[in-house]
Amino acid sequence: MLDEINKIKTEIEARLSEINNADGVEKFRLEFLVKKGSIQTLFDRLKDVPKEEKPLIGKELNILRNFAEENYNLFKEKFEQSRETVSGIDLTLPGRKEFTGSLHPVIQTMREMNDIFIKMGFSIAEGPDIEDEYHNFDALNFPPDHPARDMQDTFFIESPQKLLLRTHTSPVQIRVMKGMKPPIRCIMPGRVYRNEAINARSLAEFHQIEGLYVDKHVTFAELKGTLIQFAKKMYGENSKFRFRPSFFPFTEPSAELDITCFLCGGEGCRVCKHSGWLEIAGCGMVHPNVLKECGIDPEVYSGYAFGFGIERVTMLRTGIDDIRLLYENDVRVLEQF
Ligand code: DAH
Repeated sequence: MLDEINKIKTEIEARLSEINNADGVEKFRLEFLVKKGSIQTLFDRLKDVPKEEKPLIGKELNILRNFAEENYNLFKEKFEQSRETVSGIDLTLPGRKEFTGSLHPVIQTMREMNDIFIKMGFSIAEGPDIEDEYHNFDALNFPPDHPARDMQDTFFIESPQKLLLRTHTSPVQIRVMKGMKPPIRCIMPGRVYRNEAINARSLAEFHQIEGLYVDKHVTFAELKGTLIQFAKKMYGENSKFRFRPSFFPFTEPSAELDITCFLCGGEGCRVCKHSGWLEIAGCGMVHPNVLKECGIDPEVYSGYAFGFGIERVTMLRTGIDDIRLLYENDVRVLEQF
């Protein structure tokens, strides 16, 4: 009997060394620890053991059973804890967060504006950021002594061709009109540069969307209708607008489009400088000199043009009240939009 006990002990040790998962633990239990298992079978035979040997055999059997049970419990605990890590995946770990990028708020605004104009039948044109004086000023009817031509306002590039960083998107109008015949209906989004003091309201670079429509019989009424239609889509049906007479060298007559300040609803606040109105675009009928310069007969054709700033609109819709935040590329700011 003692030999058999030892034999089973050796078997138990061998089995234990093979256990490497919860199934192995269960197999071990079925082999040694159930009623019909090999240990209980030895206990059953205790009644046939001679009386004087019983205490010793009984003691050895108990030691054997405790040894098997203790090890079973140890292994059970070990493999149950890691049961959820089956094939290396720990299902109790928190999920991994997906980090998705997003478009910069200025680009989001620009695309939204583009989309509205595209639905109204405008196509998109682009021009270079590095321009020459001819496209940026001369062809747009700027007089030779216009202050915008001053180094104080414009970044000139040292070059024989008198290159500069475009100060507005209007030079793209010239390129478009020289490149195709009317009817022309397009918008020209892009980045522009001005030699300005940097503060919460202005930067040396920002974005504009230029618009141009040239055909026979284009009228100022059409310009008003188009811009109001656009602005309602962009800022909401209930916004109110007004056109104020203004001046630009390349349009005649010229106007500026204001919208009721959508922060204070027209009551007056810091953003609208307590006027209740925000300036959102410059516009007007393309000056006959500009049409002529581009080879378009102003007696036959007329056109309107407009220019929107994009940063101002972006600041209003995001609630960002310092324009510099849009250009610092601080992820903590950008990831909110
Ligand atoms: N280019 C002007 C600016 O930068 C904006 C502008 C005004 C564009 C009137 C236009 C226009 O096309 O018709 O301030």
